[in-house]
Amino acid sequence: MYVCLCNGISDKTIRHAIRKYQPSSLHHLRKIVPLGTECGKCIRQAREIFDEETAVI
Ligand code: FES
Repeated sequence: MYVCLCNGISDKTIRHAIRKYQPSSLHHLRKIVPLGTECGKCIRQAREIFDEETAVI
């Protein structure tokens, strides 16, 4: 499923980037994957995915 339509970035791509590069924050993740560089509508969902992937169980 696409999270960022402007840049064609899927949730799978985001999860893969988080697991591979282990960004410390959403800001850091956005330096790896160009989320929110256009309309910004994807940021909220990107944050949810980031929180899910980095949640300590
Ligand atoms: Fe990501 Fe527009 S949907 S910048």
